[in-house]
Amino acid sequence: MKMDLADKYLSNLVAGNNQRQKAHLTFRGNAKRGRHGWLRLTPAYSLHVVNEILANTGPDELILDPFSGTATTTLASVTRGINAHSVDVNPFLVWLGNVKLRSFPQTTADELLVEASRLRKAASGTGSSWTPNLHQIEKWWDEKTLASLADLFAGISNCKASEPVVDLLKIAFCKVMISTSNASFGHQSMSFKKAKAVRQSQPTLFADFDDSDEPIDLGRMFAVAVDEVAEGLTSETPTASGAVFLGDSRHLDKVLKKSAYSTVITSPPYPNRMSYIRELRPYMYWLGFLESGRQAGEMDWQAIGGTWGCATSNLSVWESTNGDVAYPHFNDIVSAISEQHPLLGKYVHRYFDDIKLHLQSLRKVVTPKARCFYIVGNSKFYDTMLPVEEIYAALFVDGGFTDVGWKAIRKRNSKKELFEFVVHAVAP
Ligand SMILES: C[S@@+](CC[C@H](N)C(=O)[O-])C[C@H]1O[C@@H](n2cnc3c(N)ncnc32)[C@H](O)[C@@H]1O
Repeated sequence: MKMDLADKYLSNLVAGNNQRQKAHLTFRGNAKRGRHGWLRLTPAYSLHVVNEILANTGPDELILDPFSGTATTTLASVTRGINAHSVDVNPFLVWLGNVKLRSFPQTTADELLVEASRLRKAASGTGSSWTPNLHQIEKWWDEKTLASLADLFAGISNCKASEPVVDLLKIAFCKVMISTSNASFGHQSMSFKKAKAVRQSQPTLFADFDDSDEPIDLGRMFAVAVDEVAEGLTSETPTASGAVFLGDSRHLDKVLKKSAYSTVITSPPYPNRMSYIRELRPYMYWLGFLESGRQAGEMDWQAIGGTWGCATSNLSVWESTNGDVAYPHFNDIVSAISEQHPLLGKYVHRYFDDIKLHLQSLRKVVTPKARCFYIVGNSKFYDTMLPVEEIYAALFVDGGFTDVGWKAIRKRNSKKELFEFVVHAVAP
């Protein structure tokens, strides 16, 4: 009997009750996992899902993730001894991914701890250090915390440690910066909360700072964050080579070798109007990857599904030039959404136009018979369901891929129709 891709690779994932939300199949399951937990960014996907697929993947394969995010796929692959590459359009995520994939010499942890204890004293809050040009920064941090963060960041930027150590210090800084901010990332989209409530809602790393009304001891928090980062240096060490490239997944052949990748494991942006640039702004401004709102909008326009700032006005004049989306009801779905909200209709149209471009470019960089696994979520706009998994499957078939199908792996949130799926396909 012929065993299809889903039987071989996904049987453990799809078993059981898909009506449940299954936290271990989300980024939350990665939170305590060494380097995977260095920075918790909500768009990350489940390490568990990736490991299930990799369990059936041989050491001589070359893995690709064309939507790298926090490099979950690539890191999981190289720690299992399988070479892997990934691509992302966001330069901050490319930087973060490459730090996570680095092999650090034995001396790094010691150097890191020495530098960190020196820097702890730097977070004194003089009020004279550089702060980033983040819109309404006073909503993110109170004046004293911002001044202390600024001093700490200045100390890191000026420190004479080796480049790998400075990168690790920046990751620890990001942990402290985000956990002292008034932003809440508990939902699909970021919002602001009162500072104290935020500290109480972070029970993992900073639990011991939550019990009192004491002012934030930033130096101490930084020391804890550095310890966590240092733990990841030894708990997950790459045993194969991996890299994240800055590039556009609609033009993969510009950054990757042709006909090279035998397995693709990825999670593209979902068509749910979430903006990665918007969510990642605090990291990007502090680390120098963003300097203005205009630049943020331009970057978001490059991202598939981006709708932040000028990406919205660009969308209003956007016209498709890439032919039809080969799903039977696609135009009806777009028309139904457009009737309620013309810009959203365009948003959905452009999203799948971009995915079509992506799959056309994917064909150029994968080997014949490469196995592809796409983790996607469906969406609903007003009362119109967007069957994202079916449209991906139709686009794979249209692109000449075979063995195309999908499996639901979990329910996404309290709305009963929203699920996460693995769409699978084999390259021609
Ligand atoms: C759902 S996230 C991936 C999450 C990832 N699996 C993880 O575990 O962190 C989708 C990613 O696609 C990236 N992206 C969006 N448009 C892109 C494009 N045109 N080319 C390359 N990457 C893109 C976003 O920056 C984001 O990091």
